[in-house]
Amino acid sequence: MADTAHNQQSQLGTRHLLGIKDLTRDDIELIFHTAASFKHVLNRPIKKVPSLKDITVANLFFENSTRTRISFELAEKRLSADVVNFSASSSSLKKGETLLDTVNNILSMKVDMVVMRHPAPGAPHFLARHIDAHIINAGDGTHEHPTQALLDAFSMREKLGDLAGKHVAIIGDILHSRVALSNILCLQKLGARVRVCGPPTLIPKHIGSLGVEVSYDLRDTLRWCDVANVLRIQLERQDIQYFPSLREYSQYFGINRQILDALDKPILIMHPGPINRGVEITSDVADSEHSIILEQVENGLAVRMAILYLLAGRREA
Ligand code: CP
Repeated sequence: MADTAHNQQSQLGTRHLLGIKDLTRDDIELIFHTAASFKHVLNRPIKKVPSLKDITVANLFFENSTRTRISFELAEKRLSADVVNFSASSSSLKKGETLLDTVNNILSMKVDMVVMRHPAPGAPHFLARHIDAHIINAGDGTHEHPTQALLDAFSMREKLGDLAGKHVAIIGDILHSRVALSNILCLQKLGARVRVCGPPTLIPKHIGSLGVEVSYDLRDTLRWCDVANVLRIQLERQDIQYFPSLREYSQYFGINRQILDALDKPILIMHPGPINRGVEITSDVADSEHSIILEQVENGLAVRMAILYLLAGRREA
């Protein structure tokens, strides 16, 4: 982990993690510093620490998840928290209960922290206004996915050191992606230059106002970047056809070995998962020496432990 010139603060400036936009650069540095310590713990024979003993965390997943749900649950268990899991498909939401009623019922059981994934942008912000528990946004619709951005930036820093001035390309379905916005905000706070690349129909019209470069040329973008963070085509969120076919998408925006080998420098390949192999990225790239996709997953555990630990230990003013 690269050292930075920033003075270390002792606690987060926010009592919830709703989005990267609420974090300062110093908050991010504190999360990374804490995550680096937890990564050492995770490599020890005994991986469990008592930090969240007597703290109860509810994982409320109103939308499908593999990586984030398992990663949070494991992070909570490694910290010795008591864990309650809720999934929308098997709940009384099916009987017409409101989000607030569902959550208030869970909180009556004295839950201290809530990790929530929800298809509606702003759902965790709504909860934070109504309940006392610490809320962590595990992805809200097409809005933000802050823990993904933090683990992505942590993984880039492990490989590249200080991200100031580094070129990071976010490639693919930017329009439907919560990972894109959180990554842009996080990388800019760390001083990186960010470019988005994809078909014009999958890039929001006003994204340039966030201070990112926009390109529709994959090969030029790969020559420009140090890191390519490749996003999944989110067919489940696409109510109209944004490109003629998956075959055509992969012809213009899919990354394959031949394209990588034609570059005059190595670049890091990242993907938040789940991967559509053969669409946005071929297997020989996803599994290549350039790829840090599984390291992202490993770092996700340490970063989520850090966030849980820092929020639970926060002293209120
Ligand atoms: N990266 C990510 O959020 O994956 P899941 O949808 O599987 O949690």
